[in-house]
Amino acid sequence: MELRLDGKVALVTGASRGIGKAIATHFAAAGAKVMISSRKHDALVEARKDMVGDVEVFAANAGDVDAGRACVSATIERFGALDILVNNAATNPYMGPTLGVDESRYDKTFQVNLRGPLFWCKAAWEGHLKAHPGVIINIASVGGLRAEGFLGVYNLTKAALIHMTRQLAGEIGPTRVVGIAPGLVKTDFASVLLENYGEKMASQLPTGRLGEPEDIANLALFLASDKASWITGETYVIDGGAGVRSGAM
Ligand SMILES: NC(=O)c1ccc[n+]([C@@H]2O[C@H](COP(=O)([O-])OP(=O)(O)OC[C@H]3O[C@@H](n4cnc5c(N)ncnc54)[C@H](OP(=O)(O)O)[C@@H]3O)[C@@H](O)[C@H]2O)c1
Repeated sequence: MELRLDGKVALVTGASRGIGKAIATHFAAAGAKVMISSRKHDALVEARKDMVGDVEVFAANAGDVDAGRACVSATIERFGALDILVNNAATNPYMGPTLGVDESRYDKTFQVNLRGPLFWCKAAWEGHLKAHPGVIINIASVGGLRAEGFLGVYNLTKAALIHMTRQLAGEIGPTRVVGIAPGLVKTDFASVLLENYGEKMASQLPTGRLGEPEDIANLALFLASDKASWITGETYVIDGGAGVRSGAM
């Protein structure tokens, strides 16, 4: 089964590296026109060099509602549509006990990880999806499905994102809204975990290895494609089998 996105236009946030870059690269290779976004213009231009096809860049902070509207408008202006929005960018400025967080880092986490995705969805919905149904993919985390020792605040935002996915799916169908909840994936974002626990975690997984960004991109490509046209509202765990053994992440 070949998954194709010919004729589709996608916008991927946090696409200059890691999971977002892999998703954008897969989408472009599958025939989509892709707008890649993150905060740093130069990093986006560098990332685009590794992609084939029609890829445009737009620097924007995912936590900035006005920037979201501008990025959606620029995508529609450049490509004439916006069929697939991937809310992938996220931040994690605080690690530690949930009640130890200060207000500033709590607010930043919610601004980028939850407020941003909601209002980027709104911009995409009002700008195109309402009249031309498409797909929204929210990148959550397995941390949004369980309690953990030191990522509690970040996980609150991911739990809410999983609920937002279900909620919006019921409100804006036939536009599909789906989520992906990755386990530990080898990116900069997870560097602290990878350095300290990577090897141990990999050895505990039934699949025997940690995730690569491409693992997540393969699932995103399927969910974005017409082959997934009867799927909405759900968030899919992709974690190398961590969930089948207690103690593995
Ligand atoms: N890696 C994992 O183990 C793992 C596990 C579960 C879930 N996730 C989720 O997967 C998603 C991608 O993470 P990743 O591991 O690929 O991270 P990454 O490699 O650190 O990449 C993050 C991307 O987001 C951009 N970004 C960061 N803050 C941003 C902001 N405020 N506005 C716009 N763009 C921003 C970064 O570029 P700039 O810095 O230039 O803006 C970069 O392109 C996140 O939602 C994360 O929560 C990751």
